[in-house]
Amino acid sequence: RIAYVNGRYLPQGQATVSIEDRGYQLGDGVYEVCEVRAGVLIDEARHLARLERSLSELRIAQPLVPGALSLVLREVLTRNKVRDGYVYVQVTRGVAPRDHAFPVPAVRPSLVVTAKAIDPAKGTALAAKGIKVISLPDIRWKRPDIKTINLLPNVLARQAAKEEGAYEAWLIDADGMVTEGAASNAWIVTADKTIVTHQVDQSILRGVTRTTLLDLIAAKGLRLEERRFSLEEAKRATEAFITGATTLVMPVAAIDDVVIGDGKPGALATSLRAQFHNFAK
Ligand code: PDD
Repeated sequence: RIAYVNGRYLPQGQATVSIEDRGYQLGDGVYEVCEVRAGVLIDEARHLARLERSLSELRIAQPLVPGALSLVLREVLTRNKVRDGYVYVQVTRGVAPRDHAFPVPAVRPSLVVTAKAIDPAKGTALAAKGIKVISLPDIRWKRPDIKTINLLPNVLARQAAKEEGAYEAWLIDADGMVTEGAASNAWIVTADKTIVTHQVDQSILRGVTRTTLLDLIAAKGLRLEERRFSLEEAKRATEAFITGATTLVMPVAAIDDVVIGDGKPGALATSLRAQFHNFAK
């Protein structure tokens, strides 16, 4: 596998960053994961726009002008012969002697791009069964709207899910409300067929898959509410699903051992998944 690191394309085993990279020492960086389907980057513009926003919220300089980054993404895909899978983009504040405050003068940000092939049939098989989700307290910092590489709470949540035979963990705030998944956005469908997902604010990541799905929902004239919902309401829902660049629309069959609907992937989730790529740009 070939990685892009600060201007060079190298075999992944030789691609390195300094031990004084602020991403490594302080988690001072951001990332994006963009799906690739049949050689096309799905919703690339939205991913690049979100990357820009994450960088600007943390006052990290742009490593490349957006057009150039786009070319690097394509080059990494080509060099790795990835047609289906994803590209990973990571930008950190750069390399400097360890100090919490920003380096003065500012250093050049570090940019790493990698790609990974994934067989789309795997997601299809998972979606045909539906996934299990567990619930856990949301112990993240108060700015999950920034896509930072500080993922320790998410790592622990996904590990706990895995140990319980689940795919994802839904994170519950102090009021008993579901914010989002550890690596995906959370959705339910109520008895009157209203699709519900957490409103955009600082307590969730504004998922690109979420945004595109909202376009699809609007185009189909389906009922939608962007509001908070409790874990209790989720367990009574007729359907539940998650969205993310690597999962697309993925039906949820059970939450904490409570079966959702009839325990099979819901009709709405299944139909939205099938139509998703027609709406992605
Ligand atoms: N995760 N919420 C969180 C906390 C996420 O980490 C992600 C994405 C999402 C969904 O966002 P999007 O639709 O833009 O992928 C929501 C990526 C895939 C990851 O960390 O691997």
